[in-house]
Amino acid sequence: MITIISGTNRVGSRTRIIAEHYRNLLKARGEAHQFITLEDLPLDFAFTYFGSQQSDDYKTWISSTIGGADKFVFVAPEYNGSYPGILKMFIDSIHPSLLRGKKSALVGVADGRGGNLRGLDQLSGAFHYLGIMVLPKHVIISGVGKLIQDNQLTDENVLGALEVQCAEFIKM
Ligand SMILES: Cc1cc2nc3c(=O)[nH]c(=O)nc-3n(C[C@H](O)[C@H](O)[C@H](O)COP(=O)(O)O)c2cc1C
Repeated sequence: MITIISGTNRVGSRTRIIAEHYRNLLKARGEAHQFITLEDLPLDFAFTYFGSQQSDDYKTWISSTIGGADKFVFVAPEYNGSYPGILKMFIDSIHPSLLRGKKSALVGVADGRGGNLRGLDQLSGAFHYLGIMVLPKHVIISGVGKLIQDNQLTDENVLGALEVQCAEFIKM
């Protein structure tokens, strides 16, 4: 089971469009998958995200979306030269035992030129610490504002890079 995580709670994010495209790639290949977006986090998340403070609903959600997956696709936007704080909080809310030994593929999304490569390196560092294997082939999406039309990703190069990563990740 692969869980795709759209790594921001910003309403109207381009990250979500890319993450939904990834969902379609997995669907087209018949891969079992789930999709979550950090927009789904509870409104009081910032004050309830540590283990003992979590609601039963939150624990159940994490248990099925994270505990029930053996692979994760993280789609992470670049915010101030890194991945979003809400994504770090989300990771911090998960018991490490639900992550250890699992596999991940990373996609960076930025309006600027960096494609969140820096953020993906930082995310990789945390994942290595947690014992999550990281597919070496990141997809870096720079200048994303110009690559999306009518809420669809249209750039052939990026579409191709996502296809290649998805195929490799399924085999990983
Ligand atoms: C708080 C914040 C900080 C941002 N910082 C950067 C940045 O450091 N570099 C960059 O290229 N784009 C930056 N952006 C623009 C995002 O990369 C852009 O909004 C892109 O669409 C991905 O974010 P989104 O998924 O929220 O749309 C920032 C956006 C926000 C909301």
